[in-house]
Amino acid sequence: MTEIADAAATPPVGLFLIGARGSVSTCVTLGVLALRSGRIDRTGLVTARAPFAALPLADPGAFHIGGLDVRTRPMRETALDLGRLGLFSTELVTAEAAALDAVDARVGAGHFDQPDVPSRADGFERESVSKAGMAPRERIAAVQAALAKFRKEVAGGRIVVVNLASTEVARPVPDEWKSLAAFERALDAGATIPASTLYAYAAIAAGIPYVNFTPSLGAKVGAIEELARARRVPHAGCDGKTGETLVKTVLGPMFRDRNLRVLAWEGFNMLGGGDGATLEDPAHKAGKVANKDEALRKLLGETQELHTHVGIEYVPSLGDWKTAMDFIQFRGFLGTRMTLQFTWSASDSALAAPLVIDLVRLVDFAHRRGEAGALGHLAAFFKSPLGSNETDFYRQNQLLEEYARAAAR
Ligand SMILES: NC(=O)c1ccc[n+]([C@@H]2O[C@H](COP(=O)([O-])OP(=O)(O)OC[C@H]3O[C@@H](n4cnc5c(N)ncnc54)[C@H](O)[C@@H]3O)[C@@H](O)[C@H]2O)c1
Repeated sequence: MTEIADAAATPPVGLFLIGARGSVSTCVTLGVLALRSGRIDRTGLVTARAPFAALPLADPGAFHIGGLDVRTRPMRETALDLGRLGLFSTELVTAEAAALDAVDARVGAGHFDQPDVPSRADGFERESVSKAGMAPRERIAAVQAALAKFRKEVAGGRIVVVNLASTEVARPVPDEWKSLAAFERALDAGATIPASTLYAYAAIAAGIPYVNFTPSLGAKVGAIEELARARRVPHAGCDGKTGETLVKTVLGPMFRDRNLRVLAWEGFNMLGGGDGATLEDPAHKAGKVANKDEALRKLLGETQELHTHVGIEYVPSLGDWKTAMDFIQFRGFLGTRMTLQFTWSASDSALAAPLVIDLVRLVDFAHRRGEAGALGHLAAFFKSPLGSNETDFYRQNQLLEEYARAAAR
């Protein structure tokens, strides 16, 4: 791997995390701090390798971090829990404790709706829950005030918002939200709008790029795409592709390109942590299951024969670790039936954190270049990419590299 030095003149970037005290956010923050102090290297960062070398991307070690959450449990405690689970050493957390506390002090209270409170909502603060009484316009104004305050702390005012909050319940999206004018009328009328979408609207309307790393609705609404294009702001999403789905979108093309007919792809995921606890609730699980299944079905094409299953089970003792077991049955020449089985055991947060850092660098770069709307060239990072129909990981990666080479010219 070719590691690269950042261009000296790259402006600093502020990273505003929604769900700033969760597991992925804590790994992002610890990672940025440890890159800054030189305690870790850039393994896992896509943007640390060629062909991104020629791009003037922001230095991740210099990210200024803040954000919002609906819990007050300090990030340092979450980091220590993750260290005890074996993701990294607790000595690393101790060494960065003061810097973690300084980030924690910049985390304000978030907003969410009562239906989005997971049934195992340990620690969700009543103070934040009570914000359910606020009108959507008031919430947007409050988020924009927090963004404006944070922006002042970053020389040059360049910031990116990343949604890393708990997965919301999947809801039907009203057809009229395709149009910005109709969506804004719904805002004025006080309609119930998912917090992820209010955050996206607040950021983009203020000219700030937005990344949705979760399966929640966020900017996946026609009205927000229209707003992003009108304000010349880029956004990217949704649902980070870190583990089982990444493997699916690598293996799926192999079956497709060898003309082997997949008959069954049964995936069983077991995970603990806050994400596992949230996804135990069927209403929260629905969006995640749909994204995981959609990627595979798009790749293999719908056939009468194809049977797929995505199971997600909460196993508290796993903590932040996740095990996925996949069973694939396929038919070859002469009708011969064969199987492939794999087991993937990983820390989701450790896989997700460098991708979040990559996304901030690439989305900020796109913003500086004047790109607007959903960034389809970032499809490789997502289970359900916006702005692209490509689900094959290698083609997605090719798209990203072609973009980098063209942008470097
Ligand atoms: N871990 C991965 O590899 C991965 C991959 C893809 C997507 N994701 C998504 O990333 C998100 C975060 O995952 P995690 O493992 O860090 O979960 P987590 O439960 O540890 O953290 C979520 C955090 O969001 C906060 N939160 C909830 N609702 C909020 C709101 N409305 N506003 C502000 N903060 C809010 C919670 O208090 C919590 O601190 C989840 O939606 C997950 O599905 C994770």
